[in-house]
Amino acid sequence: MRNEVELKRVLSAWDLFFMGIGAIIGTGIFVLTGIAAANQAGPAVVISFIVAGLAAGFAAFAYAELAGMLGGSGSAYGYAKAAFGNMVGWLIGWILILEYGVAVAAVSTGWSGYFNNGLQAIGLGLPAELILPPASGGWINLPAALIILTLMGLLLVGAKEGARLNTVMVFIKLLTIAVFLIVGVGFVNPDNWSPFAPFGWFGHDEDGKPIGILAAASLVFFAYVGFDAVSTATEEAKDPQRDVPKGLLWALVACSVIYIAVSSVLTGMVPFTELNVSSPVAHALQLVGLSWASALVATGAIAGLTTVMLVLYYGLTRIIYAMSRDGHLPLRLSVVSRRYQTPSVAIVISGVLMALMAGFMPLSSLAELVNVGTLSAFVLVCLAVVVLRRSQPDRHRPFVIPGGTTIPLLGIMFCGGLMAFLPADTWWRFGMWVLFGAFIFVVYARKLKME
Ligand code: ALA
Repeated sequence: MRNEVELKRVLSAWDLFFMGIGAIIGTGIFVLTGIAAANQAGPAVVISFIVAGLAAGFAAFAYAELAGMLGGSGSAYGYAKAAFGNMVGWLIGWILILEYGVAVAAVSTGWSGYFNNGLQAIGLGLPAELILPPASGGWINLPAALIILTLMGLLLVGAKEGARLNTVMVFIKLLTIAVFLIVGVGFVNPDNWSPFAPFGWFGHDEDGKPIGILAAASLVFFAYVGFDAVSTATEEAKDPQRDVPKGLLWALVACSVIYIAVSSVLTGMVPFTELNVSSPVAHALQLVGLSWASALVATGAIAGLTTVMLVLYYGLTRIIYAMSRDGHLPLRLSVVSRRYQTPSVAIVISGVLMALMAGFMPLSSLAELVNVGTLSAFVLVCLAVVVLRRSQPDRHRPFVIPGGTTIPLLGIMFCGGLMAFLPADTWWRFGMWVLFGAFIFVVYARKLKME
């Protein structure tokens, strides 16, 4: 029942770069910047972006070395399998499913905020009960659940249409950010940057939740999630050993620069206390009286957030498909629809589960859950570089991280450090997921044809 169809090698380094931008820039910058600035870091959220960017950057080097060296279906799942064997490989695949799946749900709640903002502008805003999950006082986040079901339909009928739509929307997203920076910079009032770090580096609020620059870094780390999606396209790259490392690193550098610029301008335009809303970038423009720019940015953000969901949802089905094809998940999940040639079972099951999460869980809980999963995958990818340098020293490495093992070790330190600043309930949920995964592995290993 194995699927032997080969994927076409059509993607250049530029295509991978745009795929990266498509997956990376989204809710992190358009929504979480405001929440993190208002509740955790103040204007110093820009430092949080730098700290989180360093953690992601160190891990990106590790991805680049492994993508060049190992090729194959790419992604942390394949790398961990090569470095640590089947059990850890499987567990990382399981964690990646959590990362991508919950990330799509998290981004859809960001999308819902901007969408409702747009509806309000034309007098059709939805009541709070239909845009908030029960934990925030509503019934269901309906637009968030519905957009996921819509994308499910799109992915079911074919990836080609999705890819074309993605390119167009990536340009709209970049244009939107450019408009925000160009018009926003004129409204920056340096008084808004003072006090710069009202919550300090690290502390706790009255409810015991972590606050400060480092806690904010562990939240806005979400903004960098997705660059690893580039590594899931290794089998479709023209020259994967050169192009994947390039596309991945370029995309991350470009996004870091954009994040630093946007968070500086945003916190300079309005007092940070005003930013605790679901569409802070549009809200800030509204507050300084630029309604036209606010509407434009809200529309662009909706397009931009859609690309993130598309690429991550696509990446998720790709990982489920790869694991199922390897016999590491039930084979049924790699069934390809005859009519549309897409992995329909994986698309529908994951789509329905993600729509439920999006409808009933609040954004920050979802984002933190994604982060703990992603950070742990990054720690293992950095560790894989160190292990493989010892166990396979002579293997050809088209891209070698300069400076010996310093960068991967820094990656382990930064990513591990950020994990420590996440709240206890996030750790609890993540622990349950990993235990559940380990249980499935142990109980069903033989059934699933795992050695
Ligand atoms: N990095 C992606 C975002 O910010 C997941 O939406």
